Amino acid sequence: KISGHPWRPVYHVSPPANWMNDPNGFCFFKGEYHLFYQHHPFSPEWGPMYWGHVKSKDLVFWEHLPIALAPGEAYDKNGCFSGSAIEKDGKLYIMYTGNVWTGPDHDKDLQQTQALAVSDNGVRFTKLAENPVIAAAPEGDIHPHHFRDPKVWEHEGQYYAVIGSKTKTNQGQALLFRSPDLINWEFVNVMAKGEGNFGFMWECPDFFHLDGQDVLVMSPQGMKPEGIYYHNLHQSGYVIGTLNYETGQLSHGPFQLLDYGFDFYAPQTTIDNKGRRILIAWMDMWESPMPTQSCGWAGAMTLPRLLRIKNGQIVSTPVPELERLRENEVYYTQVMVEGELALEGISGDHVELELVIDAQAASRFGLKLRVNEERGEETVLTYTRDDSLVSLDRNRSGQGPGGIRQAEVPLENNQLHLRCFIDKSSVEIFINGGTTVMTARVYPSEGATGIRFFADQPIQIINLKKWDLKHAIINFN
Ligand code: FRU
Repeated sequence: KISGHPWRPVYHVSPPANWMNDPNGFCFFKGEYHLFYQHHPFSPEWGPMYWGHVKSKDLVFWEHLPIALAPGEAYDKNGCFSGSAIEKDGKLYIMYTGNVWTGPDHDKDLQQTQALAVSDNGVRFTKLAENPVIAAAPEGDIHPHHFRDPKVWEHEGQYYAVIGSKTKTNQGQALLFRSPDLINWEFVNVMAKGEGNFGFMWECPDFFHLDGQDVLVMSPQGMKPEGIYYHNLHQSGYVIGTLNYETGQLSHGPFQLLDYGFDFYAPQTTIDNKGRRILIAWMDMWESPMPTQSCGWAGAMTLPRLLRIKNGQIVSTPVPELERLRENEVYYTQVMVEGELALEGISGDHVELELVIDAQAASRFGLKLRVNEERGEETVLTYTRDDSLVSLDRNRSGQGPGGIRQAEVPLENNQLHLRCFIDKSSVEIFINGGTTVMTARVYPSEGATGIRFFADQPIQIINLKKWDLKHAIINFN
């Protein structure tokens, strides 16, 4: 029973077997959420890309469906790379990058074009005869070969797509295209371009209107560390601004990260029938070892997160539907902690924890997750008062990569609010109502179910709730 393995998620989407990376074609179509993903169905390593497929009625319980796209045409014979989905005339169109290597040089001999496939029911797709619909990157200061990951949307009766790119001197940028019919595309402009330390390529752009503003999301490769930030080789973040649809240019503010942990990449959003903007990302990192490969699978998706803009930044919270996963509530109130404390009934490897801590006089406090005392395993979240930093430390998390990631989090009323989702080989920590999120994969031993609270001076846990979370993958046990 694969799901019985200590690392296999029970309420996050992971591949039925073998390899998964980016979320693709995330959409709400005919009353259901569809999520596709970069998939190599023949091994737990990256390989020629297919599109795997799951769907859900509620963003909570997911059902695996047959593979939706396979490489094979002249324009996609080395892979159906990332892309997005849009409904038109009652049909679901997916727009993706056809990947072809014309020789051994993975830069110069790379040919990336944009293609479409269509479906009546959202399950069986047919590639269009007109493919590739965008046969080459535009002229100008645009790299001719790295041209991928179209995200398509509709605005005032026209279709638009933003496509990942870089300049000829290796600065990431996003290109804007327009079409009356999804088939004939014209290049509008470079929508935004990185300057300075902003990555040598922007992968997987996304664009949407949210709370009165325009948001461009991108996943820059190769940003250099700056202080506590950008310690992954791959980042995912956004800029907020206003798109001029005439000129195709986005005026925007500074780059901000969407997640401050280790494992969050290539996020994609959709809007649903309730008008909500929902994001899912790949919960892994290209450069990190993935110990689950030895179990025949690799890759998982984050929980779906609801996005809002507040005080000039994106706030992300788990979609409220996820509360349906909760069972066996355990509740504590007004618990004083000094030194280290375990609480009866507070443990587990697929649980949600919600707590509010009053920092009182403590200068250093936090919690340990996935604790196995005998083996010395723990994943530690520490708050330090003098520098207002939250640190997530996975150096003793078990197998797999270690490291520490940090984020600056001011306390509100001397309090820290935490919602932690633990699922076998992942932790997602939503801090202070989702203003900061930290996501990590961890690979502890099976017995690592302990949870501990610690503080160097007394703190008070004002209240604490813990739930076991149910299995949510319908046709996969
Ligand atoms: C991002 C990415 C995309 C590409 C896909 C290939 O993780 O590199 O740019 O389309 O993965 O699997």
